[in-house]
Amino acid sequence: MIQTLIIFMLASSFSSTTLVSSSSHYNFPIAKPNPNCNNTCGSIQIPFPFGTTEECYLTKQFWVTCNLTAFNPPKLFWWNTTIEITDISLDGQMKLMNTIARNCYDDNESYINNRTRITFTKYFTVNNTANKFTIVGCDSYGFVSGFRVGRNFTTGCTAMCSSLDDLAEGECTGAGCCQTTVPEDVWQVRVSVRSYNNYTYVSNFSKCSYGFVVEESAFRFSKDNLTNLSQVQKLPMVVDWAIGNSTCDEAKRNTTTYACGGANSRCHKPTNGYGYRCHCQQGFEGNPYLSQGCTDVDECSNETLHNCNKHALCTNEIGYYTCACPKNYDGDGMGDDGCKEKPPKDTKMIGIASGIICLLVLGIILYLILKRRSQNKMKHKFFLQNGGHMLREKLATREASPDMVTIFSSSELQKATNNFHNSMILGRGGFGTVYKGMLADRRTVAIKRSIRVDPTQIEQFINEVVVLSQINHRNVVKLLGCCLETDVPLLVYEFINNGTLSSHLYNEAKARALDWNTRLKIATETAGVLSYLHSSASTPIIHRDVKSDNILLDHTLTAKVSDFGASRLVPVDLTQLSTMVQGTFGYLDPEYMQTNQLTEKSDVYSFGVVLLELFTGRRALSLDRPVEEKSLANYFLSVLKQDLLFEILDENIVGLENMEQISAVSKLAKECLNVRGEDRPSMKEVAMELEGLILGGKHSWARINVHDEEEMESLIRIDDGVSHFGDGDMSSSLGYDSISRDHILLPMNGGR
Ligand SMILES: *[C@@H]1O[C@H](CO)[C@@H](O)[C@H](O)[C@H]1NC(C)=O
Ligand SMILES: *[C@@H]1O[C@H](CO)[C@@H](O)[C@H](O)[C@H]1NC(C)=O
Ligand SMILES: *[C@@H]1O[C@H](CO)[C@@H](O)[C@H](O)[C@H]1NC(C)=O
Ligand SMILES: *[C@@H]1O[C@H](CO)[C@@H](O)[C@H](O)[C@H]1NC(C)=O
Ligand SMILES: *[C@@H]1O[C@H](CO)[C@@H](O)[C@H](O)[C@H]1NC(C)=O
Ligand SMILES: *[C@@H]1O[C@H](CO)[C@@H](O)[C@H](O)[C@H]1NC(C)=O
Ligand SMILES: *[C@@H]1O[C@H](CO)[C@@H](O)[C@H](O)[C@H]1NC(C)=O
Ligand SMILES: *[C@@H]1O[C@H](CO)[C@@H](O)[C@H](O)[C@H]1NC(C)=O
Ligand SMILES: *[C@@H]1O[C@H](CO)[C@@H](O)[C@H](O)[C@H]1NC(C)=O
Ligand SMILES: *[C@@H]1O[C@H](CO)[C@@H](O)[C@H](O)[C@H]1NC(C)=O
Ligand SMILES: *[C@@H]1O[C@H](CO)[C@@H](O)[C@H](O)[C@H]1NC(C)=O
Ligand SMILES: *[C@@H]1O[C@H](CO)[C@@H](O)[C@H](O)[C@H]1NC(C)=O
Repeated sequence: MIQTLIIFMLASSFSSTTLVSSSSHYNFPIAKPNPNCNNTCGSIQIPFPFGTTEECYLTKQFWVTCNLTAFNPPKLFWWNTTIEITDISLDGQMKLMNTIARNCYDDNESYINNRTRITFTKYFTVNNTANKFTIVGCDSYGFVSGFRVGRNFTTGCTAMCSSLDDLAEGECTGAGCCQTTVPEDVWQVRVSVRSYNNYTYVSNFSKCSYGFVVEESAFRFSKDNLTNLSQVQKLPMVVDWAIGNSTCDEAKRNTTTYACGGANSRCHKPTNGYGYRCHCQQGFEGNPYLSQGCTDVDECSNETLHNCNKHALCTNEIGYYTCACPKNYDGDGMGDDGCKEKPPKDTKMIGIASGIICLLVLGIILYLILKRRSQNKMKHKFFLQNGGHMLREKLATREASPDMVTIFSSSELQKATNNFHNSMILGRGGFGTVYKGMLADRRTVAIKRSIRVDPTQIEQFINEVVVLSQINHRNVVKLLGCCLETDVPLLVYEFINNGTLSSHLYNEAKARALDWNTRLKIATETAGVLSYLHSSASTPIIHRDVKSDNILLDHTLTAKVSDFGASRLVPVDLTQLSTMVQGTFGYLDPEYMQTNQLTEKSDVYSFGVVLLELFTGRRALSLDRPVEEKSLANYFLSVLKQDLLFEILDENIVGLENMEQISAVSKLAKECLNVRGEDRPSMKEVAMELEGLILGGKHSWARINVHDEEEMESLIRIDDGVSHFGDGDMSSSLGYDSISRDHILLPMNGGR
C-alpha cells in the first residue's frame, strides 16, 4: 500500500515537473494541395482549414499570418492580431499565448494595473478541461468573466499568505496561488486582479498580483513566481476550434460549404463550443477537412495498430484488416489466444491406428468392390434421369470450345468438396446448398446442390445449362459445368471470393470501404450485364431476381451477377406466356405482382431498388423498421416527395464531389421505380446513363429515343398464373442462390 502510494507520488510529481505541453506533428499532407499554401510557419504546422491566404483557408475564421520579417524563428498569429498561435491540432485545439493581467507596485513604487481580455469570434471557445484560471499573489483576488450564448459568466478566486514559508511547490489551493476552472462554451475571457490591502502586510516579499488563464500542464506554481512572473508577458492557453456555428445535420444540407465532405470523413459535434468538427473514420488517418485527406491506415505495418496473433498473417484492407492463422494453427487469429497450434499427431497412436486400419482395409476393399458395382449402376441411372444424354447430344452438335460446359463426375465433385463436408458450405438458401470446392486442377469453384427435382422439367434444365454456360461476360458468374450423376443435379460455378454486394453494404467496416465511385461502378457493371442479357444475348434473358444478394464481388470489387435460377430465356416467338410470380420481396415489380406479366421492365424495377441500396446503405426490406420505412422503395419515393433525400443517404458516401452524381442516380432510381413498367427506362438506357455519369457526361436517358420496336416485342404478356413466391426468397442471402430446377417452368425454344 505504502509502496504504491510512493510510486504514485513519484509519478505524479514527475509528470507535473516536466511540464511538456505536447505539440502536434503530422506526417501526412495537412494543407490544401495548392503550391501556394504553406503548411508550416517555422516549426508550427498549419493544417487546413487554417491557412495564410484566402485560397488556403476555409473561411476567414481560419485566417492566420506567419510573420517572418520580425521574428526568427517566425511566429504565427491569428488574423493580423497580436494573438500568437503556438500549435494547431486537427483534433480541434489550438494553443495561444495570452497576456498576464497584473496589479503591482514596481521597484519604483509606481502602480500598474493591467487587465487582459482575449476576444475571438464565438467560433473559438476556451477549452474548459485543459485550462485553469490562476491567481498568483499574497494579498490578491481576481475575476474571470466571459460570454456564452444567452448568458454571461463570472467567477474568481483568492490567493493569500502571510509568509513565504506557507507556500508549497506545485500547490494552487489558495496559499500564494489559487486555481479554478472556466466553464464550457465560453468564447471570450476577461481577467482582472486586485489587492485587498494594497500589499500593506506582505510588501516585504510580495507587491504584485498576477491573473491568467493558462494551460494547466504548462504552469506549475513555485514561490519564486511571486516575483519572477513580472518578467513573463504571456502564457499558453488552449482554445477549441470548430467549423461555423451550425450542427452537423444543418451543415450537411449545404454541400457547397460542408467541410466534412471528403472521402471517409465524418462529422461530429464538439464537446465544447459551437459548430462541428470532422474526423477520419476508423481505419483511416489524415486531415479530414481535405477532400482526399483521409487515407487508409496500414494496420499491419505496425504491431501497435493491429490485434493479430503473433503467428497470424495480417492483411491490410481499405479501412480495416484481417488476421489469419497459418496452416498448422487453429483460431480466429486475433489476440493472444488467436492461433492455437494443432496438437501434434501422436506417433504411437498412429502406429496402432494404422495397424487396425490395415486389417479393416482388407475387409473394406472387398465390400467396396461389391458396392462400387451397384453405385456405378445408380450413377448411370441418375445420369440418364437428369438428362445426361440430352446434354451430351447438345454438346456434340456444337463446336468444341474452351468455354463449353463440362460434365463433371460425382466422384470429382466429392473430392473437390471433401465429400460435401459441412466446413465447405458457403451458404444455404431456400433452393439448396452452395459448397466451396477445389477441383483436381486446383481451380476453386462454387458447387450448388439444389434441394428438389421435377423430373418433367429435365429438358428445360438442360437447355438452360447450355445457354447459361455460353454467356461469357466479365460481369456474370460463369457456369463451368454440371454433374448429373447424383439424385439432384449439381451446378459448378466460377468461385467469386469477395462475397455478395449485400454483405459489403451491410457490414459496417466493408461499407465504409465501399466508396461512391466503387458503388457507381458496381451499379454500372450490373446495369450493363442486365442490358446485355435483355438485348444482346442470342435469346433475351430476364433475370427475374435482381438483388444485392445476387451481385457478387471479386477481389477488385468488380460486380459478378449470379443466380439466373429465376432468370428466364424469353422465347422470341412467343408473345404470351403464363408464369408464376417469382422473386424477392422488397425488389418485386408491383406491376408484375398484380398482373403476372413478366417483362424486362421487372428487372429494371428490381435494379432500381439495388440502386437505392447502393446510395442509402439500407436494406430493401427490413421488418424491424417503422411501417412507413419497411419497404425501401416506398420510403425512398415518399422521402423524395418531401425533398429530404439527404436524410437517407449513406453517411459513407456523402461528399461534396459526389452529390451531383448521387442526385442523378437517385433520379434514375426514381424512374426505374415507376409503377407502370412502360414508364421505366429500358435497362440499356439505364446502363448508358450510368456510364455517362462515370465519364462525367451529362446526357440524360430521357433524351435517348425510348424503345426501339425490337425491344418492345421482346416484352412478354402473361395472362394467367397463380401468385406464388418461391420459399426462402425472403431470407436467402446466397450469392449462388437458386439455379434450381423448380425455377424452370417454361418450355423454351427447345425445337432449335
Ligand atoms: C512559404 O514559406 C517560406 C518560408 O517558410 C517563404 O519563403 C515563402 O515565401 C512562403 N510562401 C508563401 C506562398 O507564403
Ligand atoms: C511582423 O511583426 C512586426 C512587429 O510586430 C510588424 O511590424 C510587421 O508588420 C509584421 N509583419 C507582418 C508581415 O505581419
Ligand atoms: C486586419 O484585417 C482586417 C480585416 O482584413 C482589417 O479590417 C484590419 O484593418 C486589419 N488590421 C490591421 C492592423 O492591419
Ligand atoms: C525606476 O526609476 C529609475 C529612475 O527613476 C529608472 O531608471 C528605472 O527604469 C525605473 N524602473 C522601472 C522598473 O520603471
Ligand atoms: C500595463 O499598463 C501600463 C500602464 O498602466 C502600460 O504602460 C503597460 O504597457 C501595460 N503592460 C501590458 C503588458 O499591457
Ligand atoms: C453580458 O455582459 C455584457 C457587458 O459585460 C452586457 O452588455 C450583456 O448584456 C450581458 N449579457 C447578458 C445576457 O447578461
Ligand atoms: C497603496 O499604497 C501606496 C504606498 O505603498 C500609496 O501610495 C497608495 O495611495 C495606496 N493606495 C490605496 C488605494 O490605498
Ligand atoms: C515559476 O517559477 C519557477 C521556479 O523559478 C520557474 O522555473 C518557472 O518558469 C516560473 N513560471 C513561470 C510561468 O514563469
Ligand atoms: C451563426 O452565426 C451567424 C453569424 O455569426 C448568425 O447569423 C447565425 O444566427 C448563427 N447561427 C446559429 C445557429 O447560432
Ligand atoms: C450554401 O452556402 C453558400 C455559401 O454560403 C450559399 O451561397 C448557398 O446559397 C448555400 N446553399 C444553400 C442550399 O443553402
Ligand atoms: C481540451 O483540450 C484537450 C487537449 O489539450 C482535449 O483532449 C480535450 O478534449 C479538450 N476539451 C474539450 C472540452 O474540448
Ligand atoms: C509503431 O507505432 C508506435 C506508436 O504509434 C510508434 O511509437 C513506433 O515507432 C511504431 N513503430 C514502427 C516500426 O513504425
